Parts: sequence; structure tokens; C-alpha cells
Amino acid sequence: MKILAIESSCDETSMSVIEDGHIDLGTIILSQIDIHKMYGGVVPEIASRSHVENITIVLEEVLAKANLTMDEIDAIAVTYGPGLIGSLLVGLLAAKTLAYIYNKPLIPVHHIAGHIYANNLVKKMAFPLIALVISGGHTELIYMKENYSFKKIGGTLDDAVGECYDKVARVLGLPYPGGPSIDKLAKEGNDTYKLPIPLNDESYDFSFSGLKSAVINLVNNEKQKGNELRKEDLACSFQNRVVEILTKKTIKALKEYHVKNLIVAGGVAANSAIRKSLELECLKNDVNLTVPPILYCTDNAAMIGAAGFFAYQKGILANLNLNAKANCNLEEL
Ligand code: KG4
Ligand code: ZN
Repeated sequence: MKILAIESSCDETSMSVIEDGHIDLGTIILSQIDIHKMYGGVVPEIASRSHVENITIVLEEVLAKANLTMDEIDAIAVTYGPGLIGSLLVGLLAAKTLAYIYNKPLIPVHHIAGHIYANNLVKKMAFPLIALVISGGHTELIYMKENYSFKKIGGTLDDAVGECYDKVARVLGLPYPGGPSIDKLAKEGNDTYKLPIPLNDESYDFSFSGLKSAVINLVNNEKQKGNELRKEDLACSFQNRVVEILTKKTIKALKEYHVKNLIVAGGVAANSAIRKSLELECLKNDVNLTVPPILYCTDNAAMIGAAGFFAYQKGILANLNLNAKANCNLEEL
């Protein structure tokens, strides 16, 4: 089954053709990072306008790359939420138009389900599993008993981890998106700054706003005192606290749920220190770990096509009334 997938929830216009939920026949990702960089973050209105400009070009390119015509496509999968409403609407309208014109089934895909199923493009997902979803908008621990069954066991109570990376990077004067810049800088530094780990308790929930505030206060205090800020040491100290808490709660979940499969998903899964720490702990605890390659970690339509295949198998289909949702629950599919 060949699914044409469309993703436009934030600042990437992406389409992909995925066969049977795991073979990538062609993916196009048009990133708007260079446009948003000058504003230090994604500007929603600019993002949706760029999607409008790019969407038909991306469609032509993806079909050419996969060497297919629309008649050879079996279904259309699309991200309906969560995300920026104006951005989501562009991809959704494109999907509905194609489904209508070519008379194809329309599969609604939750963005986080997409991030999780990016792992199926690497290796067939084995169940039960725990998914650690870490992105610019989400920090969640999900338990999956079987394909397309999601139980949220914990999540952030405030900022998402990627959001925290981006804000800390901005305070340190690093370019947007902040995650990759901090990851790189941290490698040159030492863990010398004292920073708190918020919500370092026995729950599966996370809190990152306190850590972010602690970094901002530290930077301001050092400035006031006229002290020189060792940016690489601060990046390293910050990143180590993030790694510690994500690793601790993920390993706890694996043990308590008696699960031997861990997948990591979302843009922050590209982080080298998080990958390293989880690899080490999974080895110690005899857990199979899968992390997608960086291309499939950040937003892309290949993951939507992979998830769409399993949604279709569960009978999850939409009609032309499907609407975009800025916020929606993964468990309510
Ligand atoms: O999944 P994604 O592309 O978009 C959302 O759905 O949010 O994630 C983007 C987030 C940004 O916050 C970015 O700073 C972060 O992923 N990110 C990283 C790294 N690469 C991207 N964070 C930490 N380390 C990285 N290497
Ligand atoms: Zn995402």
C-alpha cells in the first residue's frame, strides 16, 4: 500500500510516499528555518504563508522523486494536529483536495503518532514499548501495548524540552533552533554550573520551566556582577541536567511496566548526549533501543506515512469534514 503523506504542522512543508508503513519511496522536506531564524523563533503567520507558497512544488517534487503518479497512490495521510493552526490548515486542505479529486481514502494522523512511527522506518517496532517523545512542543512518555494503541503515562507540566533548549539558546545568544547549537557547544564545556533539576521525583511527569528560569537568572546575575559567562560550561551543565532527568524517568518506566523496547522520537531525539545516555542505560538493563536517524527525528512527512499505514489498518479514516486541531490528545484517536 502506497500512502502519500503530508506534514505542515510547524515550519516544515513535507511530503512523502511510504509503502506498507516502512519503505520510504521518496521524501521532500522544505524547511523554513532560514526565514524564521532572523526572528529567533517560528512566526506563525509567516509559516502558513510559506506553506501556501511551497505546497504544490513539494507535491510535484515528491511524485517525481518516487517516480509515481497520483493514480498509483492508494491513500492520503495528513497531520491534522497538534500544531500551528494556520500551518496545519494548508497541509490539510491539500490532502482533502487530493483525496476528493483522485477519490482516495483520507487518513488523519496525530503529529506525535507520526514522531513515534518514524522508528518503524528504521526497524519494525516491537511491542510492548515505551516511547519517549521529546520535541519543540512535547515531552511525553507513552506506553504502547500494541500497534496504534497509546497510553500517556507522563509528560511535561510546563515547557517542552525542545522549547527549553530554544529559550536557553536565545539567552546565550545562540542561533535558532537552539537544540543543535547547545548540543554542539556543550561538547566543548564542563559541568561546572550548579543548576536545579525540577520535579526530580518518583512521578513520570517533567517540568522544565524552573531549569530555564535558573539559567536566565544565572546569566543575568553574572552580567550584573561583571563576570564573564563560560557559555560552553553553562551549555554543558544545562544539558546534563536535562539528560539526567529524561534518562531517570524513562528507565523507571521501562522497569515498572516490564518493557524491553524503548523508542525515542521528536526533534530533541537528535541530541547526542541524550542518545548516548539512553544507549548506555539500555545496554545495562537489556533493553532494545531505537532512535531514528536525524532526518526522521525532526518534522517530516515520512513518519506521517508510516503512522498512517497502521492507522488505516485500525480503520481510522476521515471524510472531508476533517478539521485541523491546534491541540488534540493522542489517546483520543
Ligand atoms: O520535532 P520537531 O522538529 O518539531 C516539533 O514538533 O516541535 O522538534 C524541534 C525541536 C526544537 O526545539 C529544536 O531545538 C530541537 O527539536 N532539537 C534539538 C536538537 N536538534 C533539534 N534539541 C536538542 N539537541 C539537538 N541536537
Ligand atoms: Zn514534531
